[in-house]
Amino acid sequence: MVLWAGRFSKDVDEDVNAFNSSISFDCRMYQQDIQGSMAHAKMLCQQGIIDEQALKEILTGLTDILNEINDGTLLFDPNAEDIHMFVESELTKRYPVSGKKLHTGRSRNDQVALDLRLYVRDEIKEVKVLLKNLIDVLTSLASAHTETIMPGYTHLQRAQPITFAHHLMAYAEMFLRDIDRLCDVEKRANVSPLGCGALATTTYPLDRFMVADTLGMSDIMYNSLDGVSDRDYAIEFANALALIMVHLSRFSEEIILWCSWEFKFIDLDDAYATGSSIMPQKKNPDIAELVRGKSARVINHVSGLLTMMKGLPLAYNKDMQEDKEQLFDALDQVKLCLPVFTDMIKTMTVHKDKMRDAAARGFINATDCADYLTKKGVPFRDAYKITGQLVAKCIEDQLTLETLPLDVYKSYSDIFDEDVYTAIALETCLKNRAVIGGPSPAVEKDNIMRIQKKVGDYFD
Ligand code: ARG
Repeated sequence: MVLWAGRFSKDVDEDVNAFNSSISFDCRMYQQDIQGSMAHAKMLCQQGIIDEQALKEILTGLTDILNEINDGTLLFDPNAEDIHMFVESELTKRYPVSGKKLHTGRSRNDQVALDLRLYVRDEIKEVKVLLKNLIDVLTSLASAHTETIMPGYTHLQRAQPITFAHHLMAYAEMFLRDIDRLCDVEKRANVSPLGCGALATTTYPLDRFMVADTLGMSDIMYNSLDGVSDRDYAIEFANALALIMVHLSRFSEEIILWCSWEFKFIDLDDAYATGSSIMPQKKNPDIAELVRGKSARVINHVSGLLTMMKGLPLAYNKDMQEDKEQLFDALDQVKLCLPVFTDMIKTMTVHKDKMRDAAARGFINATDCADYLTKKGVPFRDAYKITGQLVAKCIEDQLTLETLPLDVYKSYSDIFDEDVYTAIALETCLKNRAVIGGPSPAVEKDNIMRIQKKVGDYFD
């Protein structure tokens, strides 16, 4: 007989039971479920709702259940409706009288709302560490490449000189914001709905603040209908995960381009690439492609969760059980991708010479040539036009701005002098981009230190 045996005259149909059941996926919240139940039981006892003996048995029973699940001696019953029912009935098997008292003043609606919040809070901590590991790899790689010149692109066309460090640090900024976003989600997730009951609290004199305190939660939810039916924090979490995947996906796209023969800026370590079953020469960036591919499903989960919620009347509806698989999968994908991606970056070989070659072709110092004239008094628009003509001339004569003879320069503007060659040298172009946020090696070194400090601050 099921838990609600009083109202029903027969057991639920076997197929319906299987259809309804969520234990196959919500079992992963067993620790949070037990943690929440312990806090609830302690509060019930403090408020005189259950006695000391019952509390003792409940805590012992729950501790044993937790340990046995952890060491594999207690297996989840696939016929249980969900993790909440499973833990409670297991406890009741062991302590028939006290076990039945645990659910006093509580509903599975506030119970599941609490469990998922605790779960999200715990997982945020883990994802933050994975992001930190990636940022650490990026900052240390960037430190070694503050002078490694490469072309910066717009429209995937060579545009202006930057360094490899500058490119890597752009991603470090994104992943740092991802950590910050997770901290923000944590603030709204770490609030206790326990005591909201099924939808309208309860008549027992619960101390909701005590439960929140015991669980290390910063506050309680103040409207019971909202408490049991809010999944905003879960959607925000999924959204933060989707953004991480979008950042990884953009980075992956660049890795894929960079290791092609057309670029050859990097080579992936053999351990992070795969071969072809037919083409003996191939070394494919499957890992980066798979990360890029997986971003699609994580993005989908955000939209799945929003769609699941958008038409639900207050308060709890069973539709909400569908939140978990989507959220868990989004999380699993991110936790799979981040470490592999981090190691792939850590082990790749950087071909500075190829980056330098690409920077030397493509006239990425043309802006600096125009700026050279402007600094000598030529209005920028005129300087821009003269430089455009010079570039056209170089293309015609198969030269670069560095190899174009001074007399040709002078034939376009007599302001040009020998010092133009220093002004357009890529090293000069870089050094002079010393505005904060720019790629000059000196600015970059400061920025790397700033990011290293900021990321450390999140873990103090
Ligand atoms: N398994 C359910 C879920 O994940 C738990 C809450 C069920 N509550 C109920 N009244 N049926 O949402």
